[in-house]
Amino acid sequence: MKGILLAGGSGTRLHPMTLAASKQLLPVYDKPMVYYPLSTLMLAGIRDIMLISTPEDLPQFRRLLGDGSRFGVRFAYAEQPSPDGIAQAFLIGRDWIAGEACALALGDNLIHGDHLSALLRSAASGEAGATVFAYRVRDPERYGVVSFDADGQATEIVEKPVAPKSNWAVTGLYFYDKQVTDIAASIRPSARGELEITDLNKVYLEAGTLRVEQLSRGYAWLDAGTPDSLLQAATFVQTIQSRTGMLVGCPEEVAFRMGFIGADQLRDQAGGLGKTDLGRVLRDLADGVLG
Ligand code: DAU
Repeated sequence: MKGILLAGGSGTRLHPMTLAASKQLLPVYDKPMVYYPLSTLMLAGIRDIMLISTPEDLPQFRRLLGDGSRFGVRFAYAEQPSPDGIAQAFLIGRDWIAGEACALALGDNLIHGDHLSALLRSAASGEAGATVFAYRVRDPERYGVVSFDADGQATEIVEKPVAPKSNWAVTGLYFYDKQVTDIAASIRPSARGELEITDLNKVYLEAGTLRVEQLSRGYAWLDAGTPDSLLQAATFVQTIQSRTGMLVGCPEEVAFRMGFIGADQLRDQAGGLGKTDLGRVLRDLADGVLG
């Protein structure tokens, strides 16, 4: 399975911070925002990753991530000239996807929790259809909202409903089978002029091939698209890391734990991070000091 990291858009809700910088490169505590969804894709076992961003911001992502070899993955890069919708990622990436199954992670989403890798690997395991994740939130009207019947089967998905029928938001992490590029090509722009990811999900829902996994309260799902949510995400990462000494959303660590890179490569990466706490934790991990 391949994976797309979508990191475009204009970040208007974070102006003036995003007037001269990409939202997905802003820091979330001690790492650039894009590291968190990148780690999520890698935890799913995905090693072929296309990063899509604006023509202005793409060079900065290349500078940050390179060819991916230091994380044991391969990066491809593509431009999205204007923010015409999340589902457009599959049209931009169509040739690169080359008829394979493909996941999509939004560049401002952070998911953290126990056994996440097993959950993600099962979603990426290549069954026909699509898998998305739902998370209970207090403010569902900000998101795609999914309703369930009494048996827990998804019945309806609505993008930013004025009167949400449930509190279950669809997170910005999606796993699709190899039909995804054809389905993306078949959907039309919404009233706000975007190719909506919710419309793509609805095609799978109506075909009876959309699996919606409810993330239990043991998971944290955060987005970082507003000043408040950016601060909350940073505080969350700082709290977990300083309490446990373990890292949240660190692609070097994930690469090592997934067997994408070995201890020597991890030590090199830690060296590049100098005297930072992050570098110290990675060195301990490479030396077998951390479990
Ligand atoms: O975060 C999960 C939510 O993401 C879902 O519940 C919604 O169904 C989905 O539509 C999306 O809602 P948002 O309001 O967060 O979408 P937004 O337009 O902010 O875009 C999400 C990210 O994707 C953002 O970091 C910018 C990027 N993006 C967005 C669009 C529309 C692009 O790179 N290109 C685009 O064309």
